[in-house]
Amino acid sequence: MSADLVIVANRLPVDRVELSDGTPGWRGSPGGLVTAIEPVMRANDGTWIGWPGGTETDLEPFEFDGMHLVPMTMSQDEVETFYEGFANGTIWPLYHDLVAKPEFHREWWDGYVGVNQRFAEKAASIASEGATVWVHDYQLQLVPQMLRELRPDLRIGFYLHIPFPPAELFQQLPWRRQLLEGLLGADLVGFQLPGGAANFVRLVRQRVGHKTHRDLVYLPDGRTVRAAAFPISIDAAGFQELAQSDAVAERAKAIREALGNPRRIFLGIDRLDYTKGIYARLRAFSELLADGHLDVEDAVFVQVAVPSREQVEQYRILRDEIDRLVGRINGDLGRIGRPAISYLHSSYPREEMAALYRAADIMVVTPYRDGMNLVAKEYVACRFEDDGALVLSEFAGAAEELRQAWLVNPYDINGMKSSMLDAYNADERELTKRMRAMRKTISQHDVAAWADSFMTELSHVDTAHGKPVRPAKRS
Ligand code: G6P
Repeated sequence: MSADLVIVANRLPVDRVELSDGTPGWRGSPGGLVTAIEPVMRANDGTWIGWPGGTETDLEPFEFDGMHLVPMTMSQDEVETFYEGFANGTIWPLYHDLVAKPEFHREWWDGYVGVNQRFAEKAASIASEGATVWVHDYQLQLVPQMLRELRPDLRIGFYLHIPFPPAELFQQLPWRRQLLEGLLGADLVGFQLPGGAANFVRLVRQRVGHKTHRDLVYLPDGRTVRAAAFPISIDAAGFQELAQSDAVAERAKAIREALGNPRRIFLGIDRLDYTKGIYARLRAFSELLADGHLDVEDAVFVQVAVPSREQVEQYRILRDEIDRLVGRINGDLGRIGRPAISYLHSSYPREEMAALYRAADIMVVTPYRDGMNLVAKEYVACRFEDDGALVLSEFAGAAEELRQAWLVNPYDINGMKSSMLDAYNADERELTKRMRAMRKTISQHDVAAWADSFMTELSHVDTAHGKPVRPAKRS
């Protein structure tokens, strides 16, 4: 196998499932990334390398929906040290403003180095001469440099989906220099926001000592590395189309009915993660009920919490905390047939998400820190009648584009309460004005535009080697 374009991400865009005949098979997990990358993958006959989850050992490369997929195995020890440990117990909290305390363990770091090396070796063995390799996210920050050592002929891009922290936080990391050098193996390092790119360049200057000028880093071997922002987006047209379908319209109606046709539905949809600010948002809502500003006959909060990283201790603690809070709020403030919070600990297919977005009057997205937050963008894409309100944390990357949302500081409970109440009471004209502006932003800047701009920029990088990838064929 030899590919002109290789995508390297921790996850494959498929999940392992049991087929109807009892044998193991694959089901597509249509996340944003695969929608974005699929067209350019097809145009270049690309290959995707990633982990399907679990610890199965005898996995062979396979075709899925016209894509070449190469599954990486992971031992139980690697799951614990690389995935649950260094990626999600060290980097994740460190890069999200220390919302939880990162742990630094040398065995976790060793696991991280080992798995990154295996991913790099796999990519090196698959990429054709002069191919483009696009490496994704915080789990694989050492891959660019490891890959460059194995294959100096490649054009390498890296994209970080989560925030890149300020130097003051990053420098706690005992392996800070190795991570920076790992990323510098890429020709182009992409971030969600200009602030992340600037943090990176500043750290490279301070900690590695390379010369920098604006968004460029000059390496001693004559190579330059560019660091720039490429805010990610969603398949806006796809979501709108889904939201407009009859099936979703019916389902949205059924959801409202099941909730007792309240005047207003508040909605939160998040991975169950401590960065998302779920606890504070539910408290704010419950205080609005307790203060008498809202009544359970008129308003309900639907909170979907998608199970995530359940073996990591901080995630277990969070789950217990939310379970207890929801129980207490419903016990104190609910009435028969009228819980204050309708809480669902589950993941749902895109159709059900679109129906929830359609059913909800006020979407509440209040992370303490978030690279972008695609849920906020999906809600906007689904509001094709230019109605509905978005309450959005200032600390989500999406807040830089969705300026017409009710922007809140998630640490300020009173501020959140008053914005939620303003959104609840807003008149139709106000809602339309805000939603129309946000919808324009999202439709102009969708995920295809994001992938195109990264790939175009990568193909312009002045490397001595590497052939440019072909642009995606649009239907
Ligand atoms: C975030 C990260 C992704 C990650 C996803 C799900 O969006 O940026 O890299 O895949 O969360 O988390 P998981 O640990 O289940 O892969």
